[in-house]
Amino acid sequence: MEKSYLEKIKETAEFISTEVGELPKVAVILGSGLGDLVNHIDIKKEIDYHNIPNFPVSTVEGHAGKLIFGNLGGKYIMAMQGRFHYYEGYNMKEVTFPVRVMKELGVETLFVSNAAGGMNKEFKVGDVMVITDHINLFPENPLRGKNYDELGVRFPAMTEAYSHALINMADDIARETDIRLMHGVYVGTTGPTFETPAEYEYFRVIGGDAVGMSTVPEVIVANHAGIKVFGVSVITDLGGKDIKEIPTHEEVQKAAVKAQPVMTAVIKEMLSRL
Ligand code: HPA
Repeated sequence: MEKSYLEKIKETAEFISTEVGELPKVAVILGSGLGDLVNHIDIKKEIDYHNIPNFPVSTVEGHAGKLIFGNLGGKYIMAMQGRFHYYEGYNMKEVTFPVRVMKELGVETLFVSNAAGGMNKEFKVGDVMVITDHINLFPENPLRGKNYDELGVRFPAMTEAYSHALINMADDIARETDIRLMHGVYVGTTGPTFETPAEYEYFRVIGGDAVGMSTVPEVIVANHAGIKVFGVSVITDLGGKDIKEIPTHEEVQKAAVKAQPVMTAVIKEMLSRL
């Protein structure tokens, strides 16, 4: 018989726990082109996604696809290098499965990162935006369907989807270290198309500052599971009716690689203050 969702979560967590031994309280999901943080981790153990039972396998360029365990900023953490995107064809339960496993492993705080297109007219390519809130424009909510009360409540609040305490901590660090750190609302859409000029404009008008193709499903599930979240977007391109540049995957990757030291520095310092 097919294993149930809950059984799969437990099986995967048990596998990881056996492989790794020591389990982290903090996890980091690294977005497209944002893997440099891994080079700062004192790595104890790495597991390829394709060796983890019940894990989907990442397919897109720029996503290495492994779980990394080790020390960063004096904290023992786990990092996901590469995530599962809805646009790749995974369903929402697959996209968010790693977050369920994190919870089962004992993770209490989740750092999420992504590359995003900027709509806010103050933003420049290379800016790092702390996500203060999101707008979910995916056609499906990851919590749709049967609610497992063991995992969380049927109707979870999303009032503080991104921890205010962690946002304040990031702001303190930015002030002390003179880092330009923007704030904004992340709009999550399916992709894989980048937006039309009218769509960027629409997302700005409804309250968005940046748009991307990930993060929102994982953040919804983390909140459902009672995990505190800190999110950052690296602004890799700008969109709107006055913007003439055409975004490409290669440029997005390049801009992410270039801007990531700021993101890495902030996350590392936050870890040391947790
Ligand atoms: N739109 C959607 N997703 C993105 C973008 C964008 O402009 N840039 C990076 N990811």
